[in-house]
Amino acid sequence: MAKELRAYPSVSLDGEKLPEKLDFAEIFGHPAPVHVEIGCGKGAFLLHQARIEPEVSFLGIEWANKYYRWAVDRLGRWDVGNVRIIRTDAADLIARRIPDESVDAYHIYFPDPWPKKRHHKRRFLCQANLDHLHRTLRPAGRIYIATDHAEYFQAITELARANAHRFTPIDFERPAAAETGELTGTNFERKYLKENRPIHTLALQKK
Ligand SMILES: C[S@@+](CC[C@H](N)C(=O)[O-])C[C@H]1O[C@@H](n2cnc3c(N)ncnc32)[C@H](O)[C@@H]1O
Repeated sequence: MAKELRAYPSVSLDGEKLPEKLDFAEIFGHPAPVHVEIGCGKGAFLLHQARIEPEVSFLGIEWANKYYRWAVDRLGRWDVGNVRIIRTDAADLIARRIPDESVDAYHIYFPDPWPKKRHHKRRFLCQANLDHLHRTLRPAGRIYIATDHAEYFQAITELARANAHRFTPIDFERPAAAETGELTGTNFERKYLKENRPIHTLALQKK
């Protein structure tokens, strides 16, 4: 039987009802450090990390309706007050609606690798999106990345190298939500660990 997913207006954000530029203090009800997860899937990272860091405001961005609804249901059931989830394309939201220097950290865990060469242009991690991540990060803000896809990882490493004047590579800090043997604690990581796939991580800090 299909799981019944409930809507929780306290968790989900309706982009059409928000001002063009997002005001995080308004959305969360108070000023706080802001962490954004791009492609939050079913919300495992958000659920566990947000409960460990109640002083941080977490925004999850997810464009697949199925995962978005699952994540909203999960966060709502657990009554986690410091998470909001929006269903939209992260590239568009960040480019148009996230204000300059407003985000403390981005978490990008297992972004779709688009393995075929002709699909590489669909990858989230590209120069145009990195420009917007840079603009929207506060000084010393961080980007945490994990992927199981070796070739995408290579491309991300080259992208980071080409942006060395704007980002410093730093150690990848395992989020507290990650359990023993995990690097991020997301659903996809758990699936890939069972398949013994190697996982690659990278972290960058805005200069
Ligand atoms: C491979 S899954 C990883 C999900 C989760 N981060 C995890 O590790 O379990 C990639 C997720 O990113 C979402 N996604 C891909 N491109 C996106 C975009 N441009 N904006 C928002 N979500 C996106 C997909 O719908 C999918 O849920």
